[in-house]
Amino acid sequence: MSWETVQLDWDGAVATLTVDRPDALNALNVPTLEAMGEALTEAADDGARALVLTGAGDDAFIAGADIAYMQDLETPKAQEWGELGHDVADALEAFPAPTIAAVNGYAFGGGCEMAMACDLRVASESALIGNTEIDLGIIPGWGGTQRLPELVGDETARRMIFLGERLDAESAAEAGLFGEVVADEDLEDTVTDLAEQLAAKPAVAMRAAKQAINQRHEGPQAAGLTYEQRAFASLFGTPDQREGMTAFVENRDPEFE
Ligand code: COA
Repeated sequence: MSWETVQLDWDGAVATLTVDRPDALNALNVPTLEAMGEALTEAADDGARALVLTGAGDDAFIAGADIAYMQDLETPKAQEWGELGHDVADALEAFPAPTIAAVNGYAFGGGCEMAMACDLRVASESALIGNTEIDLGIIPGWGGTQRLPELVGDETARRMIFLGERLDAESAAEAGLFGEVVADEDLEDTVTDLAEQLAAKPAVAMRAAKQAINQRHEGPQAAGLTYEQRAFASLFGTPDQREGMTAFVENRDPEFE
C-alpha cells in the first residue's frame, strides 16, 4: 500500500516508516496519522522484526501536530483528534517488534510524543526536541504528560512542559530522552546497524521482553493517558488556544490572557 505523506520501506525484516510532508516540516495532519496507523498495521502483519520511524528531508523528524489544522478546532473535534494521535502512539508502543525513532531534526509537540512512543531513540546532533504545546495555549495531547516524566523524571518533565523547552540533542540525551546522539551524516548507518541487530534476535523472546517492560506502566499510564486526552480537548476554544495557534500561523509572538 502507498500513502501520500507516509512511506513504508523494507530492508530485509527491517521496516522504515517515513513521514513525508517536507513543506510542513513533516507536521502530522489527519491523513498522515491515518496513514501511519495503516502502515504500522501493514508492517506488523508482514512480520517486521524491527521498525524505524523517521522524517523525510534534512530539517525535521516531525515538527509536531499540524497547527493550522488545530487552530479552529472545537472540543468535540479536538477529542477525536487527540484520540487519533493517541491511537498511533499506542500502536507504536504496542508494535510487536522493537521500534527506533531516528530523530533527524525538529521533534516538537506531537513529534516528540511519537518519538517517545518508540522503544529507542537515536538522534542526529542537530536535532531539537520538546513538548512545546504550552506556547500554543494547550498541553501535550498524544501521551507527553505520561511518557516524558517516565523518560526524564518528574522535575525535568515539568520544566520542559511548563516552559515549552526545546532541548538540543546533547541536553536531551543527558536528560534521558535520547539513547544515542551521532553526527548528522552517521544517523542512517547507526540506526540501520541497530535495527539489524534487533531484527537478528529471537522474535518471540523479543516481543515478550517488550511486552513485559510495557506492563510496568500499564495501570497508571493508561489512566493518565485518558485524563490527558480529556484535558487536551477541553482547552480547544479557550482564548489562549486560539491566540497561541493564530499567532503561530500569523508568524508573530502570542499574547496570552
Ligand atoms: N504545523 C503546521 N505547519 C508547520 C508546523 C506545525 N507544527 N511546523 C512548521 N510548519 C510549517 C510552517 O508553517 C511553514 O509553512 P509555510 O512555509 O507554508 O509558511 C513551514 O512548515 C516551515 O516552517 P517555518 O516556521 O517557516 O520554519 P523555521 O525553520 O523558521 O522554523 C520550527 C521551524 C520547527 C522551529 C517552527 O516551524 C516551529 O516552531 N514549528 C512549530 C513547532 C511546534 O510548536 N510544534 C508543536 C505542535 S503540537
